[in-house]
Amino acid sequence: FTGQFIDTFNRKHTYLRISLTERCNLRCFYCMPSEGVELSPPGHLLTNEEILRLATLFVKSGITKIRLTGGEPSVRKDLLQLMGGLNQLKQYGLTSLAMTTNGIALHRRLPQLVENGLTHLNLSLDTLDPFKFEIITRRRGHEAVLKALDTALSLPIQMVKLNVVVIQGLNDSEVLDFIKLTEDRPISVRFIEFMPFTGNKWDKKKMVPSAQLLERIRTHYPDVTRSSDELNDTARSWYIPGHQGTFGFISSMSDHFCGTCNRLRLTADGQIKVCLFDPKEISLCDIMRSGASDDELLQVIHQAVVGKKAKHAGMDSIDVTTNRPMILIGHGLVPR
Ligand code: GTP
Ligand code: 5AD
Ligand code: SF4
Repeated sequence: FTGQFIDTFNRKHTYLRISLTERCNLRCFYCMPSEGVELSPPGHLLTNEEILRLATLFVKSGITKIRLTGGEPSVRKDLLQLMGGLNQLKQYGLTSLAMTTNGIALHRRLPQLVENGLTHLNLSLDTLDPFKFEIITRRRGHEAVLKALDTALSLPIQMVKLNVVVIQGLNDSEVLDFIKLTEDRPISVRFIEFMPFTGNKWDKKKMVPSAQLLERIRTHYPDVTRSSDELNDTARSWYIPGHQGTFGFISSMSDHFCGTCNRLRLTADGQIKVCLFDPKEISLCDIMRSGASDDELLQVIHQAVVGKKAKHAGMDSIDVTTNRPMILIGHGLVPR
């Protein structure tokens, strides 16, 4: 195999999400089972060298964007070195080096991460109320996240986004408060539909369809305007005229975007996962450790890509028994 990762539906994969750890310094209920998760034994996670070897193969095969996720990526001790190593891949066509983080332990480390190549930052923050923050994350730290946001805005980062998972009856009443943040901040707030994963007690009644949120927003801001999106964006974007920032909806459940999916995932234990909701995985870690050549690795990745399905099964049929909990897929928040 040579060339790019194109699947049987002609989707070209240019975006790789790499999970760096299964651990987290928060315990968000929507991301992990309440009993915790079984962590892989220490030696079973990819090392920086292994991640860099795979990332190089991916970038040379057309990946232009890498997003680091977790668990919480900032709990990985050698994150800064890895960022520096990935930064070198910009010479082979990598244009975006992104990270999704809860921001709790970030604000001091952010300047160095940016110096080492970080270009885009997505911060998870579901509430502007410190009390609700503790209910959702089962930890303190609301102030630290707000500080990380301020720090991010003071640094030369190309784009800062806020991820808000909307839960009926918990934080859906804060939507207008989040939009207010866009008034004088050049950020993009994304309201995310609650998605079902193993152990997260998903309930359709707790999921707020994006269309419903938009109607509420329109009542308050009649001039809310649709903005343009990139082809592969997860979010559909809007703005309030006069505001510096924008906001959007990630409607994976009510209006999925699988048709334009360009993502591949590498889990912290080295499995390639071609779809967030498909339990099928292939261990690149095992074959790499048994001495596979670059060509052999590329063959296996290609084989995984051509097995990618057209779309997820739909919110009432998604596999929540054999698929991983979100924390073990790529960004989730929580250890045991
Ligand atoms: P950008 O690269 O800035 O567009 O970020 P992103 O939206 O791709 O990723 P982020 O890590 O910020 O995740 C935001 C939300 O999108 C989370 O709820 C993710 O689970 C969800 N998401 C990310 N990738 C996918 C995907 O491939 N499929 C689906 N259905 N949801 C996804
Ligand atoms: N539904 C929707 N989004 C989720 N995230 C974690 N679990 C879920 C879920 N069940 C979000 C996090 C983070 C992003 C990568 O995924 O809040 O911002
Ligand atoms: Fe891509 Fe699967 Fe997400 Fe659909 S559900 S957008 S196919 S990863």
